[in-house]
Amino acid sequence: QLKGAVFDLDGVITDTARFHSQAWKQIADKVGDGWDEELADALKGIDRMASLDLILKHGGKQHDFTPAEKTALATEKNTRYLQLVDTLTPADILPGIQDFLDALRAGGYKLALASASKNAPRVLKNLGLTDYFPHIVDPATLTHGKPDPEIFVKAAESIDLAPEACIGIEDAAAGVQGINAAGELSIGIGDAEELHEACIVFPSTAELTLPNIKAAMEKGDV
Ligand code: BG6
Ligand code: MG
Repeated sequence: QLKGAVFDLDGVITDTARFHSQAWKQIADKVGDGWDEELADALKGIDRMASLDLILKHGGKQHDFTPAEKTALATEKNTRYLQLVDTLTPADILPGIQDFLDALRAGGYKLALASASKNAPRVLKNLGLTDYFPHIVDPATLTHGKPDPEIFVKAAESIDLAPEACIGIEDAAAGVQGINAAGELSIGIGDAEELHEACIVFPSTAELTLPNIKAAMEKGDV
């Protein structure tokens, strides 16, 4: 019996995955590192410093920067990212998400946010969705990032539910792996191949509805 929903934020509720990529690409270009779509996908769901490490490693530059220089690069990326985030309005909520949140609420489901982003409260505020998420896992409290299940386990705990009573919604392969390892029902949003480990995959948030989830479960896909 499903009683709760654990949401990723970036790339699920709004298209901030694009903003993260845009801001990181500027850093990659600056340090002369090169950028490709595969790298962009690999960064989804990964925390700030780990993302920078992946970018530097991609260009073979992992030994070229001191910790202080890396902190400065991460801060520069975040400053650029926040400029983009502050252009967000409720019109930037992805298709179907507002209705899905309202349907979950009306159905008595509890909601929690499991985002690796330290900027999640600011994004939710700009989208006008703060009230939907009184339970946000603070990524600063985590020992391990996605694909570790920790953030999804903590999210279920925050709404007093067993992981088995929750669906988890993600656009990143690392996130889907974390949801599965936590014992929640994973719903991937995006490319079925990239998210092949998810119990259910919808091509976009427009298909993310309770009837569609129930139909997929009954079809025995899950
Ligand atoms: C995740 C994004 O939600 O948050 C990653 O998918 C991002 O791309 C991570 O690096 C950390 O975000 P922030 O805002 O704390 O740098
Ligand atoms: Mg995401």
